[in-house]
Amino acid sequence: MSSRCAFKGENSESMTSDYAIETDGLQKIYRTRFTGRAFTAVAGLTLRVPIGSKFGLLGANGAGKTTFVKMLLSAVRPTAGRASLFGRDAQEEESRRPVGYLPENHRFPTYFTGAGMLDFYGALSGMSAADRKRRIVELLELVGLETWGDVRIKKYSKGMLQRLGLAQALMHKPRLLVLDEPTDGVDPAGRRHIRDILNGLTGAGVTIFLNSHLLSEVETFCDYVAILRQGHLALEGKMSSLLTKQGVVITVRDVNEQAQRLIAGMASTTRVVEDAVEFTVPTPLEANRSIDVLRAAGATIYSVIPTTSSLEDIFIEITGSSRNAGARGEIPGAEETVAAAAMSGVHQ
Ligand SMILES: Nc1ncnc2c1ncn2[C@@H]1O[C@H](COP(=O)(O)OP(=O)(O)O)[C@@H](O)[C@H]1O
Ligand SMILES: [Mg+2]
Repeated sequence: MSSRCAFKGENSESMTSDYAIETDGLQKIYRTRFTGRAFTAVAGLTLRVPIGSKFGLLGANGAGKTTFVKMLLSAVRPTAGRASLFGRDAQEEESRRPVGYLPENHRFPTYFTGAGMLDFYGALSGMSAADRKRRIVELLELVGLETWGDVRIKKYSKGMLQRLGLAQALMHKPRLLVLDEPTDGVDPAGRRHIRDILNGLTGAGVTIFLNSHLLSEVETFCDYVAILRQGHLALEGKMSSLLTKQGVVITVRDVNEQAQRLIAGMASTTRVVEDAVEFTVPTPLEANRSIDVLRAAGATIYSVIPTTSSLEDIFIEITGSSRNAGARGEIPGAEETVAAAAMSGVHQ
């Protein structure tokens, strides 16, 4: 990683950064107005989002994701810490110019037509009428709404509204797109459509930062992930490094005592399934060695299957949550504490 840092020096004009977003101990403590009780929504987050990445901030509802992005965009004032966008202090208005934002649960006025809404937001960001006209045609086509531009928004489905929201966020050709739960409430086909549009953008060098409570969304789309739990960063890293926790699952039958002892000495995990023993070894080389010694011991090799752990596996590993809780692809509730020991195994 570069040694260039957004937090050095005074003159942000001349600053450069390899990161679209950089935060340093960013914290938000909400205080209730009457009792004055303090609640930590985001607990000192330090995060780096490389330019050009597809970064997913994953967490259960209430984990602090929306508060985090609102602090980046100065919609919420941090209690402590700093943030910068492309090397520029996030408190400066100019820092937000290269950013497109799709808020969570956005509500566009329903009397707008799709094109009218885009024109309104384009004007807000200072685009000329001619630029807006051109860009609206381009964007309606990009998000698959080219025949819907003149239709009032109240007739749009949830998926169409999200795609229009995406077009809104893209009006001024941002270099960073911040999307808060972009596919919430959208059906699977609509999700895929949104994902395809976003994939097209990253080829053009746009950095995408998305908040999501959906494991599957982050797993299928993002190349970097951070998991937020109760305002704390539970894990962060490059998806490819996290998911290369590969192993080989070997299933063996006719396991006598000698074979049992051998398995115990070689396996990283072991499970008895009816009349077979299923165990995992970390590499194909070890799988071959295990197979040789077990066959010599009289056991029968039933199957050998290479595996890669999924983000869900990793999530369960760091939280100790049950698989059932994640069955709908959502992050389970935030009640368990993070198992620090398990976490260290996958943390970058
Ligand atoms: N304006 C606010 N005042 C007090 N508490 C808030 C406010 N906004 C959010 N919270 C609380 O902060 C926590 C994090 O909320 P949020 O950032 O919306 O999480 P997420 O986006 O991950 O669902 C939640 O417990 C929420 O109730
Ligand atoms: Mg949220």
